[in-house]
Amino acid sequence: MNSHPSESAEARRHATEPPSRQPERIVALVVVGLVSLYALWILRVDGPSHAPPIVAESATAVTLLPEKVPLTTGEEPIAEIFIRAGCPVCHTIPGIPGADGRVGPKLTLGTTGPQRLRDPSYSGQAETVHDYVVESVLEPERFIVSGYPSRTMPAWYGSKLSALALQRIAAYLEQQTDSEMDR
Ligand code: HEC
Repeated sequence: MNSHPSESAEARRHATEPPSRQPERIVALVVVGLVSLYALWILRVDGPSHAPPIVAESATAVTLLPEKVPLTTGEEPIAEIFIRAGCPVCHTIPGIPGADGRVGPKLTLGTTGPQRLRDPSYSGQAETVHDYVVESVLEPERFIVSGYPSRTMPAWYGSKLSALALQRIAAYLEQQTDSEMDR
């Protein structure tokens, strides 16, 4: 007999269940709706049109940080000046061990220097090959050799190379010709 009141309470609970679940469903639907909107918003924000552009790797992965390049006095053997400055990373230089870089032109300025100065598109101020080399090192953006990437040759050599180092670099490079590459 004791069970009777609890049975009826149970029955009453059952009877009221369906209406009491109704608000829960609405809440669930609203939540699903909000989640979908949120997902759409995320997709809109992170979708392809908003994704950061895939930055084209510069023509080369070669980067030379100025703080990694030691100062040169110009008293060092010529090979050491080039190697310390990092030129061989990007340039092939006759007579310099390991200087077989391909990012920039071969530094056979004895051959290419006069060609640059004659080039109608030459936009620098040098009148001699020697000055052209100096200019190319101090202000690489003045003239970009056709077929090679701009803003690749470091523009900070002026603060790393002594005047003597620069003179010796120019004096060396203006002597290098393409035929010497065949030695
Ligand atoms: C990170 C790569 C890189 C390094 C390091 C670099 N260069 Fe260059 N250099 C280039 C590129 C690329 C060009 C061609 C584009 C231009 O004209 O700026 C160039 C052009 C030149 C030119 C003109 C060549 C020509 O045929 O007219 C000279 C001279 C030169 N570099 C000398 C040097 C010297 C000397 C050093 C070291 C002190 C050096 N470069 C270091 C990339 C480099």
